[in-house]
Amino acid sequence: MQGLQGRVAVVTGAASGIGLAMALRFAAAGMKLVLADIEAAPLQRALAQLQAQGAQAIAVPVDVASAASVEALAEAAYARYGAVHLLCNNAGVAAPALLQPAWENSLADWQWTLGVNLMGVVHGLRAFVPRMLDGGDEGHIVNTASVAGLLTGSGPYFASKHAVTCVTEGLYKDFKAMAAKLSASVLCPGVIRTAILDAERNRPAQFGAPTDLSALSEKSQRWAASFRESIAAGIDPAVVADAVAEAVLHDRFYIVPAQPEYLDSISTRMADIGALRNPTLAQARS
Ligand code: NAI
Repeated sequence: MQGLQGRVAVVTGAASGIGLAMALRFAAAGMKLVLADIEAAPLQRALAQLQAQGAQAIAVPVDVASAASVEALAEAAYARYGAVHLLCNNAGVAAPALLQPAWENSLADWQWTLGVNLMGVVHGLRAFVPRMLDGGDEGHIVNTASVAGLLTGSGPYFASKHAVTCVTEGLYKDFKAMAAKLSASVLCPGVIRTAILDAERNRPAQFGAPTDLSALSEKSQRWAASFRESIAAGIDPAVVADAVAEAVLHDRFYIVPAQPEYLDSISTRMADIGALRNPTLAQARS
């Protein structure tokens, strides 16, 4: 996009962490905001924070796992502003157990994680892209994956984030092939200081009870405890938001604000694939 001033941004997962930081960054650049989140009280606090800074913003409660809810979000955004130029499909969940091996997760874990992390993005694309194309303005889609979308693990979080990376690369190619005025980026953060490990605060009852960490293997329990410390010492979400704003302005596809060890692990994985050798062990995980 040539500029952000006066344009309209929709951010899902805007009540906390990376989504809130992006909303604040876009508002500082003069954008109008549609804040969307499943958690009502933090969403209202985020709205108040933006409005106190003079931003034009509305807040729309949404469950991105529901196609109808995301369709209602698009209707609300277009009813308020008449256009959307920047869509950030960012809402996501990642309790520690969701990064553990496939068999340590229940079917409900898989369904919830894929329902929010993958289908949330799909619902966003289906609701907004036709409207953005029809609008005829230039625009950009940023889908939040993770370094987990470039590295590998057998659990649902990795699977969901790989799918987001794949869909977003495909989206980028689709837009270029049709010479659309839209483009796309995938956001693959490393370890960021947010509330992500408490994601089960938003786990709907139909997707089962929050994970009982004590039921995991001892190794997984140790890893979960140390990962919580890593998140507390993680990168400031504002750094991620700056990287996103720059990428949108310069049409950069891969946005990877991550610790150096993750960048090394990504290079190693790509080299493994290029050389058709078996996966190198002991890569960093996020
Ligand atoms: P966060 O927990 O601080 O923020 C996530 C937001 O998404 C929350 O406000 C939550 O209420 C909302 N949300 C959850 N389920 C939702 C649903 N069904 N519908 C609508 N909103 C929903 O966590 P964070 O870290 O800011 O997460 C944002 C994205 O960044 C996620 O997609 C996450 O997977 C991704 N990410 C985070 C990393 C980290 O280290 N924090 C690393 C890599 C990726």
